This record gives sequence, structure tokens and C-alpha cells, in this order.
Amino acid sequence: MSFFAHHIFCCSNRRESGHTRGCCAEKNADELRDYMKTRIKALGIEKTRVNNAGCLDRCELGPCIVIYPDNIWYSAKTKSDIDEIISSHLQNGKIVERLKLP
Ligand code: FES
Repeated sequence: MSFFAHHIFCCSNRRESGHTRGCCAEKNADELRDYMKTRIKALGIEKTRVNNAGCLDRCELGPCIVIYPDNIWYSAKTKSDIDEIISSHLQNGKIVERLKLP
């Protein structure tokens, strides 16, 4: 059994402005990660950890999030996207197909 029910890695990588691949940081990744942490705590979701990650190599699709042990990748661009991932995936075990990365 895993130590965490869900271990969530949120890319917060920042590149110089104008880089051809862009980066998650320039797409509000830090604020979205902090929002996710705050909401998970406020909702009392246990055994779930949100960590910063370096580049997850899917920069063009970011902000990128990966949830283990499920190995599901998301692109979450808004707080509403984060709310949906929390309520659907974390609380009800249902993958958010519209936000899932291939
Ligand atoms: S900068 Fe976030 S995946 Fe590369």
C-alpha cells in the first residue's frame, strides 16, 4: 500500500521569456498549485500530498500535473479545472477526461 493515497506533482518550471517551449510558470502554475494545496487541506482530503516539480517535459501543454499512483497527467489552466480534478479524481475516483493529457 502506498504511503500517500495520491501524490501530486505540479510543474513549476520557469524558463526565460520567449523560449520556444514556454513553461508552466508563465501560465500561472504557482498560483494553481497553491490553490490546489489550500483546497485539499480545506476539504480534509487525507493522505494526499502536493509537491512542486521541475519540468515534466510536456511544457507546451501546461500547466502540467501528474497524479500517482494513478499515473494520470492533467493540464489544469484555471482554478475551476483544479476544483474539478479534486472533486472528480481525488474524491470520487473518476478521471477528468477533458483535462487529461494523452
Ligand atoms: S515547463 Fe512544465 S512541463 Fe516543462
